[in-house]
Amino acid sequence: MELDDLYRRVIMDHYKKPRNRGKLDENSVTIELNNPTCGDRISLQLIVEDNIVKDARHTGEGCSISISSASMMTEAIKGKTVEQALDYADRFSHLMQGEEVTFDDYEDLEALSGVNKFPARIKCATLAWNALKKGINENN
Ligand code: FES
Repeated sequence: MELDDLYRRVIMDHYKKPRNRGKLDENSVTIELNNPTCGDRISLQLIVEDNIVKDARHTGEGCSISISSASMMTEAIKGKTVEQALDYADRFSHLMQGEEVTFDDYEDLEALSGVNKFPARIKCATLAWNALKKGINENN
């Protein structure tokens, strides 16, 4: 199987069966963000305790890239420290700039590497990550 096909399958799997889809109770931090280019939105909820991302959930509308990115992002950061979560966000932004980045700890994220060739889609892929950074920055 070509790498592109594999990546496409990983993205579609997360799109069709998004991980951590849903809502948390009111003890969570909620971040609402829009993708200005299309109007799609994400609502991300986080529970951060003792510097650990204990839980993360997302709802909203978006394309396959944005939903799968939110699914992967929440999977990657759950149970991680705030610093590790921000490190993921940093590496993901390098990935979107076309740099070679590996995610040995959560390889599904590498499936989004091809997005950097489509500038209009970068905002789709980074929406969930921008929500994560906003949520952490505003609550630390
Ligand atoms: Fe709206 Fe991708 S087209 S989030």
